[in-house]
Amino acid sequence: MNPKPYIIEIEGLHTRFGQHVVHENLNLNVTKGEVLTLVGGSGSGKTTLLRQMLGLEQPTKGNVKVFGSSRYNCDFTLSKNIRNRTGVLFQQGALFSALTVYDNIALPLRELRTLDEQTIHDLVMIKLNMVAIEPEHAYKMPANLSGGMIKRISLARALALDPELLFLDEPTAGLDPELSESFVQLILDMRSELDLTIVMVTHDIDTLVGLSDRIAVLADKRVVTVGTLAQICNHTHPFIKSFFKSIREKYQHNGNRELSWKTGPMPS
Ligand SMILES: Nc1ncnc2c1ncn2[C@@H]1O[C@H](COP(=O)(O)OP(=O)(O)OP(=O)(O)O)[C@@H](O)[C@H]1O
Ligand SMILES: [Mg+2]
Repeated sequence: MNPKPYIIEIEGLHTRFGQHVVHENLNLNVTKGEVLTLVGGSGSGKTTLLRQMLGLEQPTKGNVKVFGSSRYNCDFTLSKNIRNRTGVLFQQGALFSALTVYDNIALPLRELRTLDEQTIHDLVMIKLNMVAIEPEHAYKMPANLSGGMIKRISLARALALDPELLFLDEPTAGLDPELSESFVQLILDMRSELDLTIVMVTHDIDTLVGLSDRIAVLADKRVVTVGTLAQICNHTHPFIKSFFKSIREKYQHNGNRELSWKTGPMPS
């Protein structure tokens, strides 16, 4: 059987802002169909790396390929094609506050300039239904919605163009545990329905455990290890040791039930 293709290939990436070196010789591949989670300390360069995969931030050096094409040496049409195959839920400022829910989701569809308003209307309603938002909320302004609804609607907007690749930056930040759990379930449903490849950044342990196929750890300006939870949980890097200590503490509290099937026995 052929191995699955890489959707993203990052090689020898360096990022510097003035004197501040954020990434140094960073390498990472994302395989078609997987959920890859980036973890790392605050300021380790996770959001910057997502922005580079999205083509929003040029690295100082190195290569970022998305769908087999170099993200930074391609013409406008190819860049637009990559963008149209990609959805994103940003860490901050999820929705445009001056637009209704409907217009927020319609925006990427209108940008295509190929769809009439009736088709756009039908697609917006389908996406709202997918994320379990009642049609009556379509004409509300973001300021009048709860945090959980905003996340769901932002996901609907990220999925508007039926992307193959989805970026999620802290998708459950700011949600209470119950809302967070239902959002993780929603992403799992979308994933199996839409055959998505997902690159996610999260600090939230339940989100990480609930969604990740593989985890890439950013530390010392590079990806120090990448693998399943079971593969990386015994890594000796100080960041990973302390990261897994907090996972263990949380799940030991629950008798380790939820975690054991993903990791096997936890290190003591
Ligand atoms: N455009 C920029 N100009 C200058 N410095 C920047 C820029 N973007 C990011 N940085 C710096 O790069 C470093 C990495 O930032 P980044 O936002 O990628 O971190 P992060 O890992 O996402 O952190 P967090 O977990 O807090 O979201 C930070 O020190 C940040 O201040
Ligand atoms: Mg960030």
